[in-house]
Amino acid sequence: MNFQFTEEHLMIRDTARKFAEEELAASAAERDEKEEFPGEAVKKLGELGFMGMMVPAAYGGAELDTVSYVLAMEEIAKVDASAAVIMSVNNSLVCDGINEWGTEDQKQRFLVSLAGGTLLGAFALSEPEAGSDASNQRTTAARDGDTYVLNGTKNFITNGLHANVVLVFAATDRSKGPHGVSAFLVEKETPGFSVAKKERKLGIRSSDTVSLAFEDARVPAANRLGEEGQGFRIAMKTLDGGRIGIAAQALGIAQASLEASVLYSKQRKAFEHPIAEFQAIQFKLADMATEIEAARLLTLSAAAKKDAGQRYTEAAAMAKLAASKTAVKSSLDAVQIYGGYGYLKDFPVERYLRDSKITEIYEGTSEVQRLVIARALLRA
Ligand code: CAA
Repeated sequence: MNFQFTEEHLMIRDTARKFAEEELAASAAERDEKEEFPGEAVKKLGELGFMGMMVPAAYGGAELDTVSYVLAMEEIAKVDASAAVIMSVNNSLVCDGINEWGTEDQKQRFLVSLAGGTLLGAFALSEPEAGSDASNQRTTAARDGDTYVLNGTKNFITNGLHANVVLVFAATDRSKGPHGVSAFLVEKETPGFSVAKKERKLGIRSSDTVSLAFEDARVPAANRLGEEGQGFRIAMKTLDGGRIGIAAQALGIAQASLEASVLYSKQRKAFEHPIAEFQAIQFKLADMATEIEAARLLTLSAAAKKDAGQRYTEAAAMAKLAASKTAVKSSLDAVQIYGGYGYLKDFPVERYLRDSKITEIYEGTSEVQRLVIARALLRA
């Protein structure tokens, strides 16, 4: 596959890089420390078109391709992985879902503002007993006239505290398993819907992760996304795209780890030489660069398949599996290269390490990605 980026791709990448350096870099460490949401930056990301990158212009989006999205995500994540996941969830898991399955009315009411960054979206699939086993939905949605009554709990919901609209999955018929799940667009003000708990986390601390409670929350039937029973398929297809976004986030963390390591190893002296002169360091840097480039090509390949309208489920799983592993390994190596300083909050690499781990967990653990890839191999 030939990745000749267009002028537009390069412009998007440069815009994202400039934005990250000017608007995120100076505050990223402090926001991480204080668990502070980057509200102003998210608004500006919306103004730049980065909150609805693949949404058609007719619905307020930037109408760009997935390759552009990957390039922008990597640049944002390189500086601030928290801002990147906020952006990724809104783009891939909320905007893309509404764009593909939404009615015209839903697009006008939600997509236009979500893509423009004036509303923020969250995606609520996970539950205490439905993590990897996502179809085991205990949250129920019972039809009652023109509404559905939702009851249950969701957890690990990124953006849940600040979101105005949450794409919620719930069982409309538990006896049908995955075919009895439906999707709903739930507005923040809905009576009976509340944020139950804000989690305290190892990494991506400037993004919020919460559990949500539904107690007889009435949602208009007009807010159901897709048909009754189509929800699990919507969740899986949406997550296929989301996994490309998280792969790009992981790439950003890995690239930041590499760049910090190169810089530091040229400055830091030991035994009267810059440590970059030692093969022990050089081999680490070479492995990091090689693994990052391999993961980047897998991610771009998955994005290009999506843009070409080809099946990309397995390609997205491979990209996320490889990029998340690379992020964890690169950030761990960066801490090792920094030695004792790598363990201190004075330097950014300890944040890269803390931020990297979640990329192996959310939007499908590495074990789930392997399962998706293996099932396809065995089905063939
Ligand atoms: N596209 C379209 N349809 C799909 C699909 C896909 N990628 N994957 C599955 N389906 C369909 C199947 O075809 C099947 O339909 P049929 O019966 O008609 O054939 C149906 O869905 C059920 O599929 P499976 O039998 O494969 O379902 P399963 O129960 O075995 O689960 C799984 C498969 C891959 C493990 C899935 O449950 C999964 O991906 N789990 C992980 C969930 C996950 O990623 N959660 C992330 C939460 S969101 C998040 O993390 C966001 C954030 O905060 C940043």
